[in-house]
Amino acid sequence: MDAITVIRAKRDRQALTDEQIDWVINAYTRGDIADEQMSSLAMAILLNGMDRREIARWTAAMIATGERMDFHALDRPTADKHSTGGVGDKITLPLAPLVAACGAAVPQLSGRGLGHTGGTLDKLEAIPGWRAALSNDEMLGVLRDSGAVICAAGDGLAPADRKLYALRDVTGTVESIPLIASSIMSKKIAEGTGSLVLDVKVGSGAFMKNIEDARELAETMVGLGNDHGVRTVALLTDMSVPLGLTAGNALEVRESVEVLAGGGPADVVELTLALAREMLDAAGLPDADPARALADGSAMDVWRRMIAAQGGDPDAALPVAREQHVLTAPADGVLTGLDAYAVGLAAWRLGAGRARKEDPVQAGAGVELHARPGDRVRAGEPLLTLHTDTPERFPAALEALNGDAVRVSADAEAGAGPIVLGRIA
Ligand code: URA
Repeated sequence: MDAITVIRAKRDRQALTDEQIDWVINAYTRGDIADEQMSSLAMAILLNGMDRREIARWTAAMIATGERMDFHALDRPTADKHSTGGVGDKITLPLAPLVAACGAAVPQLSGRGLGHTGGTLDKLEAIPGWRAALSNDEMLGVLRDSGAVICAAGDGLAPADRKLYALRDVTGTVESIPLIASSIMSKKIAEGTGSLVLDVKVGSGAFMKNIEDARELAETMVGLGNDHGVRTVALLTDMSVPLGLTAGNALEVRESVEVLAGGGPADVVELTLALAREMLDAAGLPDADPARALADGSAMDVWRRMIAAQGGDPDAALPVAREQHVLTAPADGVLTGLDAYAVGLAAWRLGAGRARKEDPVQAGAGVELHARPGDRVRAGEPLLTLHTDTPERFPAALEALNGDAVRVSADAEAGAGPIVLGRIA
């Protein structure tokens, strides 16, 4: 077997054989295939696609390069959620403790932000003392004691994906449905959850810009999960506008705690409850009532236990950026557009995200919204507040919000669009 034959086969639109796929994944993980050869193959896959059999084999081969976790010793069913990433997407923070409060165990292995979308671990690290890196034993301990754990995936889980994703990130080969589906599902299947709910985002702030691509990605991932014995369901949800009223690490933790306290923006509450119901249903707990667990404080109790178990102080003041800049409404009317990508880019440029994996993030940086699309606004009223420790970043952030990113129309009807756009089971 050699890399050039495999690259040529995919370049010429042939389906790869099981043997070719197993060999490529193993040889690349071992270091026997050069990065330039793997990036050439990734580009051929991006351009020419893979069929269902190839995607299933590619995923299984990536899982087999690492360890598989096992939660069967727990006395509760396990449920996990994965979002394909968006702007202001803090849903994991209230969702994991909420689902745990309703009786499932939630092992949530999460990542850091790259580019304009935020990462769950960066958000939680805004809480003084909180630690993302846990050993497998520590992770199981937090899960057993709190019902939920949110932590970094260890190096042993699907190492082929770790290496391949880093390569795709710098070679323009992220946006391929077979490669995204196999990347996400190899980690989720190796993680050992019994059921999984996928939040597949659609819109300017998401990987998938249109509903057809999002549906194809969701169907591919649901098929992979169910074939591997993980009960998998997907919701297609809107990411044309940011979720909630905040994009940025500490800002999003504050909003998540508001949701756990029974308040918070309506769209964040609605999506948290929709995903919680799907997770509980998939975990075999269809009679649980997540709305009650938010209202009676039991989800907040799990949050506090979970944060404290990882060294965090749930009562500590969250970091606040040193400088603020307020953007006001240009006219009276209805806010008809607030582009998710533009807000994510602005938050990133303010210091909430990183350009390279090793860069630090600012805990307090980000964008706070004072109105959501569908709200009435008046000229001169605050629309957005930009937060950063480094005010020299304001001009670049403001540039991201220029043009069509913020739209106010005099004659539009007030009201917001739906969040959940579809369901794939
Ligand atoms: N997230 C992943 O883990 N992998 C991808 O390919 C894209 C998003």
